[in-house]
Amino acid sequence: MQPNSVTLPFAFDAHVHLRRLRSVARLTAQHFSAAIVMPNLTPAIRSAEDVTEYSKWIMSATGKDYLPFTPLMTFKIYPDTAPETLKTLNEFFELSGRQIAVAGKVYPKGLTTNAEDGIEDYFALFPLFKKMEKLGLVLCLHGEKPGNAIEGLDRESAFLRTLFYIARSFPDLRIVMEHITTEAAVEAILQLPENVAATITAHHLILTHDDVGGDRMRPHNFCKPVAKRKSDRTALIEAAISGCPKFFFGSDSAPHPKDKKECSECCAGVFTAPIALPLLAEVFTKHNAINRLANFAGGFGQMFYDVAFAEKPVTLIQEPMTIPQEYDGVVPFLAGQQLSWKVQE
Ligand code: NCD
Ligand code: ZN
Repeated sequence: MQPNSVTLPFAFDAHVHLRRLRSVARLTAQHFSAAIVMPNLTPAIRSAEDVTEYSKWIMSATGKDYLPFTPLMTFKIYPDTAPETLKTLNEFFELSGRQIAVAGKVYPKGLTTNAEDGIEDYFALFPLFKKMEKLGLVLCLHGEKPGNAIEGLDRESAFLRTLFYIARSFPDLRIVMEHITTEAAVEAILQLPENVAATITAHHLILTHDDVGGDRMRPHNFCKPVAKRKSDRTALIEAAISGCPKFFFGSDSAPHPKDKKECSECCAGVFTAPIALPLLAEVFTKHNAINRLANFAGGFGQMFYDVAFAEKPVTLIQEPMTIPQEYDGVVPFLAGQQLSWKVQE
């Protein structure tokens, strides 16, 4: 028998989009002790000044109600990001003593939200990667190969060669392949040394490609990278519940206003922040692994990033919860459906 409640000493979301939406930022702060905050805003977060301002904005948006909450900041990497700019990003906030940014994020050109100005030539970034390795900044990769030669569903597996090449060229650079969706990516992460890890979202443990466009088009299930086959989902679940510290939770919760999702050419992104932990509890219970949830959604991510932050426990209980239709104009994943777990408020 598995327990019908579980307390995580803290929850850590290693990949989240907060935009400039106060209510969204508060929803993450409510359940999580810390989160790695993505920089793909318009304008993007790319310098130490941007990061500092955005971090302050997040702290003021989240307010005092849900403390402690620590936003761990990232900067977007551009083809012309100069290695010299990393020095300032690697400094420490005066008051909190935290690092200004913990990671830099590479978006492949044209493949996701606000990535029109992303990267095509990864090798041109090698001097930057070298400097990141030296400074101890983590490299976060949206692992899909850009360019016209590759079909959408194959972009992640096609990117793995680049991942291997970067990882082997920079053995001391910590690399996170974000939101993996394929069995091939799971295998690659297992083959690569300790400095390479991956985040896994809650929705990719639940969806397959058919849930996105198998019969009807379901825009609220559409994200990048798109969910793949059942065999891929099985591999992701096995990785998530395996107890292997190379796989940890990053929600990739990515809010878009309802009218930008329910339209032609809808934006990519699935909004899960307020229900992410109950979703994970469902999956982990189903696979008899609820005792591994605390590490997947907390300890392993914190260990890889090697970050200190104040922790707050979060208790999940097995009680029915109906997912709201909307959170402040944003439709959540599985809106209106029932979950069998919820967060004890
Ligand atoms: C993200 C977003 O909306 O910012 N969308 C998504 O589909 N995952 C960007 C990203 O992480 O790819
Ligand atoms: Zn993302």
